[in-house]
Amino acid sequence: MNVLVTGGAGYIGSHVVRQLGAAGHDIVVFDNLSTGYRWAVTCGELVVGDLADENALETLFGNCSFDAVLHFAANIVVPESVSNPLKYYSNNTRNTLNLLKAVQRHGIPYMVFSSTAAVYGMPEDTVLTEDMPLAPINPYGASKMMSERMIMDLAAASSLNYVILRYFNVAGANPEGLLGQATPEATHLLKVACECVTGARDGMSIFGTDYDTRDGTCIRDYIHVEDLAKAHVMALDYMSRGGDSKVMNCGYGRGFTVREVIDVVKARSGVDFPVVETDRRPGDPEALMADNRLITETLGWTPDYDDLEVIVQTALDWEAKWQGMQRNTDR
Ligand code: UFG
Repeated sequence: MNVLVTGGAGYIGSHVVRQLGAAGHDIVVFDNLSTGYRWAVTCGELVVGDLADENALETLFGNCSFDAVLHFAANIVVPESVSNPLKYYSNNTRNTLNLLKAVQRHGIPYMVFSSTAAVYGMPEDTVLTEDMPLAPINPYGASKMMSERMIMDLAAASSLNYVILRYFNVAGANPEGLLGQATPEATHLLKVACECVTGARDGMSIFGTDYDTRDGTCIRDYIHVEDLAKAHVMALDYMSRGGDSKVMNCGYGRGFTVREVIDVVKARSGVDFPVVETDRRPGDPEALMADNRLITETLGWTPDYDDLEVIVQTALDWEAKWQGMQRNTDR
């Protein structure tokens, strides 16, 4: 297929681009490089541009005949979305609308959209199914929920087919060390812990130790980025075989506590960095895990990296490499 990947120079998008290239697809990446990098685009052509620029989108769609659009480009920092909500409604929701207008004008048949477990908000159950109510508690989750709805409504009114993937806690890096998370000022647990190992940070906090979990800290469903990327490639295959539009959770269906993740990082790295226990972070649900029966049954998706030790090791290996890359001005 001829595939457009928005945000393909970012963390998740770049892993998907590499797998799409390996599967033989032709790829155009459209990315404004606000958090992505040229070096991360390992297959296809990079077009630097912004989804806010409708003229640039029209030129892009006019120049190439795309069979599918994979839409990753978005801002993803939850606390920033609370302090600057309109940035999220602009860059996530409105820019998705701009993209959908081009998708409609050019009759693109397939779309895969990056959504998030944040659309569920603070669910009462800890294992989440796709039919649970959507009740996001921050603008990030709301911006993605609205984007989901626009895609569904356009699909109902046209021949567009979509797969919306609701990601759980994406972590780890390409096992060959080619790609990884290079997002500036990252806030995600495993990235923060890896930065403590390299010395990029002096230490870290555990946000809350009084949750009703096995060790008092929050439980999350950490999924290796290569398994998540594989789900996107399989979603394209599924739609090209005539599969119906679907919204699917993407996680392993099991969880680890914050302490368990930090312990594995310390054990595998051999670095005992300082960790302080602080108050709960507002808006953190106690435990979130994916019921992944729908994606396994629909796509035949099975994970290759469902092992916290492997997730942590690939993240550590990448972090060490990334430190070196930042010192190399020729990169
Ligand atoms: N945490 C710490 N210290 C840190 C960073 C995180 O204790 O320095 C804790 C958090 O309080 C939370 C857990 O680690 O309990 C995971 O936090 P992350 O910030 O890594 O991720 P979130 O679970 O908050 O959110 C991520 C994505 C969302 C997605 C969600 C789904 O950012 O988009 O996973 O589970 F919805």
